[in-house]
Amino acid sequence: MSDEIEISRCETSKEKIHHHRGKSSESLLNKELILKALNIQAGHTILDAGCGNGYMAKVFSSKVTQSGKVYAMDPDAGAIEALRIETQGTNIEAIEGDITKPIPLNQSSVDLIYVSAVIHGFSKKQTQDFLGEAKRLLKPNATLAIVEIEKKETPFGPPLKIRFSPEELKDIVPLAPLNTITVGEHFYMQIFSNKKQQR
Ligand SMILES: C[S@@+](CC[C@H](N)C(=O)[O-])C[C@H]1O[C@@H](n2cnc3c(N)ncnc32)[C@H](O)[C@@H]1O
Repeated sequence: MSDEIEISRCETSKEKIHHHRGKSSESLLNKELILKALNIQAGHTILDAGCGNGYMAKVFSSKVTQSGKVYAMDPDAGAIEALRIETQGTNIEAIEGDITKPIPLNQSSVDLIYVSAVIHGFSKKQTQDFLGEAKRLLKPNATLAIVEIEKKETPFGPPLKIRFSPEELKDIVPLAPLNTITVGEHFYMQIFSNKKQQR
């Protein structure tokens, strides 16, 4: 089954947690472009929120080195168990859980929250709850990076009406918008900073 079909299966009806079994944006996104834009340092703490199979958590893991930590969170018990087994003894901690509920990490403890191909499936309330948690967890000046499929006709993907444009994200995210970067043929990454907004 192609990744295009797989990723479109991550679509959800609003309010429902979309369950993920091995679906991944991996072949659709350019990891180098993502990493270049994120300025990850050794020692950083990263949350891969809605990590799926955790392929980006593994990329982040080598960037933060053993002095850093990567939390990979997803409600899919099977995906998390597989990731937990695979990453035993590394700096990755796989957590089964819902990022729209209180996340079991301390406030102001995270340097980067990365959320890829996840929030278009959330209801308004779930999105707000996740963004509230993100703001709570981020250190001052830390980064929230949201990867989403473009809001225009594409050969695959969720219905247009549930997609976000970068401008729509900027309207709802309570953080300062930095860059919008193309990270795949149909994907962008919108970066926000947890600093006072100049608007
Ligand atoms: C399209 S997949 C993307 C997975 C991964 N981020 C990637 O880019 O390959 C969507 C993921 O969001 C997860 N997800 C859905 N609802 C969630 C929630 N409430 N909290 C955390 N993750 C959620 C799904 O389980 C699934 O793994």
